[in-house]
Amino acid sequence: MGGWHRIASAFEAAFQRVPEHVADAGGRVNLIGEHTDYHEGFVFPAAIDLRTRVAGGVRSDGVLRIRSINRDEEVVAPVAELAPPGQADWRAYVLGPFWALGQAGHPVVGADIVVEGEVPFGGGLSSSASVEVALVALGASMAGVDLAASEVARLARLAENRFCHVPCGAMDQVASACGRTDHALLLDCRTLVATAVPMPGDWRIVVADSGVRHSVAGPEYARRQQECAEGMSVFRDLFPDVVAARDLTMEMLTDHRDRLTEVSFRRLRHVVTENARCLAAQAALARGDGATMGRLMAGSHQSLAADYEVSCGELDVLVDVAAGIPGCIGARLTGAGFGGNTVNLVRAEEAEDFTATLADRYRARTGRETTVRIVRAAAGVSAVRLSESRG
Ligand code: GLA
Repeated sequence: MGGWHRIASAFEAAFQRVPEHVADAGGRVNLIGEHTDYHEGFVFPAAIDLRTRVAGGVRSDGVLRIRSINRDEEVVAPVAELAPPGQADWRAYVLGPFWALGQAGHPVVGADIVVEGEVPFGGGLSSSASVEVALVALGASMAGVDLAASEVARLARLAENRFCHVPCGAMDQVASACGRTDHALLLDCRTLVATAVPMPGDWRIVVADSGVRHSVAGPEYARRQQECAEGMSVFRDLFPDVVAARDLTMEMLTDHRDRLTEVSFRRLRHVVTENARCLAAQAALARGDGATMGRLMAGSHQSLAADYEVSCGELDVLVDVAAGIPGCIGARLTGAGFGGNTVNLVRAEEAEDFTATLADRYRARTGRETTVRIVRAAAGVSAVRLSESRG
């Protein structure tokens, strides 16, 4: 139980009782396949070993009392009164999971709960998904409900979409809930079928924080969806089988370019080319082909910067600098963009030097500090009933 010690102690300090249930879930890093999930396309993420841990003890009065250790704040809400707020703040991210469990017809019990996360907030590593996934699993455990990881992911996304009003796709919650140690997950966002692909043993995943903060709740994320939707209305009229941008080909795009605005054309071109890169990357990772993987990651970043316009100067510098450091296999922005982290694949023996050099050169080019972390592809959500496991 060593891993749970810290969150259990935090619970005891907050509520002067011992916790009965604990759960944890990772943030995620996406290797490639960006801004494709809400187009029913392909993504290639991994859960990571930066985790959110939660602990709970049932209350008999039907009240949720949830304490955020990171924020040093508490929210109190009767289960019976849970409803999506007009505007979401941190409280929506911790209450939404319980609302989602109720929406799915599961019993929801009142509880004292603490939440502590080590996933940097607003850094493109899905801190919010890790909170939601951990709390859905905790809520289910406390109510005695056995949920598959894929169902935990579905309810966590329901909370994010409908309680927090963020129109995200399926990637973050599925990665956080269904991750597998030392594997990346090729996720088909139409069928939600995930295929685990082993990470080559001598590759490391390095995330580098641009220091620029972003929010998926911000207007640009929804605007990209709108810009694509405008283009998609043209193709749905022309091709009855086209349901989502996933169904487009480059030929369809170029044949009908004159019916699209310049912006919609570029946005959809990104989706088509990125889906192809993502599938090619799955094969490259599986055979440990660093040269191809690097080319695909560079192409992804370029397309996100030029066609989807979700990069920023700091992310471009991080990617540019990384490419010139020995051991770098590939680098690109990860997550929604507009700031946050880059993901780098790096040869294991060079990984430590890479992190130090990247930080130095980024500082020299931008005057900004960066936190560069070596992370590991990790397991998905887990929940434990302590009273039982302690016997
Ligand atoms: C955010 C969203 C995801 C996905 C990425 C971009 O992380 O939550 O659903 O759209 O951006 O790939």
